[in-house]
Amino acid sequence: MAAPPKKILLQLDTDADPSTFDGVVAVDAGVDQLFRHGGVTAKTVTPLVHGAMFTRGGDDLRGTAIFVGGGDVATAEQVFTAVTGCFFGPVRVSVMLDANGCNTTAAAAVLSAAKQLDLDGKTVGVLGGTGPVGRRVAEMSALRGASVLLASRDFSRAEQSVAAVRQRLGESPVTMAVEPIAVDGPAGLTEMLRRCDVVISCGAAGVELIDADSLASAPDSLRVAIDLNAVPPAGIAGIGVTDKAVQRGSRIDYGAIGVGGLKMKIHRQALKELFDSNDRLLDAAEILEIGQAIVSG
Ligand SMILES: NC(=O)c1ccc[n+]([C@@H]2O[C@H](COP(=O)([O-])OP(=O)(O)OC[C@H]3O[C@@H](n4cnc5c(N)ncnc54)[C@H](OP(=O)(O)O)[C@@H]3O)[C@@H](O)[C@H]2O)c1
Repeated sequence: MAAPPKKILLQLDTDADPSTFDGVVAVDAGVDQLFRHGGVTAKTVTPLVHGAMFTRGGDDLRGTAIFVGGGDVATAEQVFTAVTGCFFGPVRVSVMLDANGCNTTAAAAVLSAAKQLDLDGKTVGVLGGTGPVGRRVAEMSALRGASVLLASRDFSRAEQSVAAVRQRLGESPVTMAVEPIAVDGPAGLTEMLRRCDVVISCGAAGVELIDADSLASAPDSLRVAIDLNAVPPAGIAGIGVTDKAVQRGSRIDYGAIGVGGLKMKIHRQALKELFDSNDRLLDAAEILEIGQAIVSG
């Protein structure tokens, strides 16, 4: 029997220098050979994909896969679409999108919340919901059956992000479960926390979005609070960066490192699954399912 092909991962990054983080995770996930390309755009990606899909035939194609990353999620989404547009019939390789860690981070946050509370029919508030991580958190929360309040300091930005999330959800019963909300001060924050069963803070690094008083005055109906910001000060005052399912009164808290372990497991497992066949396309919904399988054990 022929030896299985070496696992080759094409790391296509929108940044000039491909992410070392993504490279290390790829090696830890068992990739034999990593080809790293920076500054990739939808216009420049075709020859890179052709090189990957036309070299190995038949079953050996599953030994080659593509990872799309980089800090610019919108450009990375275009690259992902352009990559899949190169494929035809069985001539294809598996592809994963995790620019800015958006899918793996959001999946870890949503699944951490779901471990504590069935999200179906609950309300999830997403602060900093206009960023790449927040948008994915909103999308995945909706996929879990939650009503989602996607918050921004600016209502029109929240509306734009909700439109983008709804477009990605497509013709689905959960599409209209995502709604925009403006939170630009203590009154708006109090009102939002009053409506939420879960709040996930996805604001920019080093920015506090929930102050201690607002958190303390949130009603007992707020059951889970998750802060994804690892850079001091915390995004949610009083939540420690390493908190992992820490019970405080009626609420359970997670900090960024507290969800980080699950995020890393999801990232590694998704990379491994790329090499199971040559036709996997891993974006938000698929990566959420991979995470769910890990959590379900
Ligand atoms: N734990 C992990 O593994 C992991 C991985 C990736 C990212 N992260 C963290 O996840 C968080 C979200 O990442 P991201 O890249 O999506 O964030 P981002 O794009 O930098 O920011 C998200 C949103 O935060 C709001 N914001 C920005 N500056 C603000 C300020 N000064 N005051 C109040 N709000 C402000 C903005 O929303 P509006 O302007 O619309 O209000 C922005 O769209 C970050 O803290 C990041 O470090 C964690």
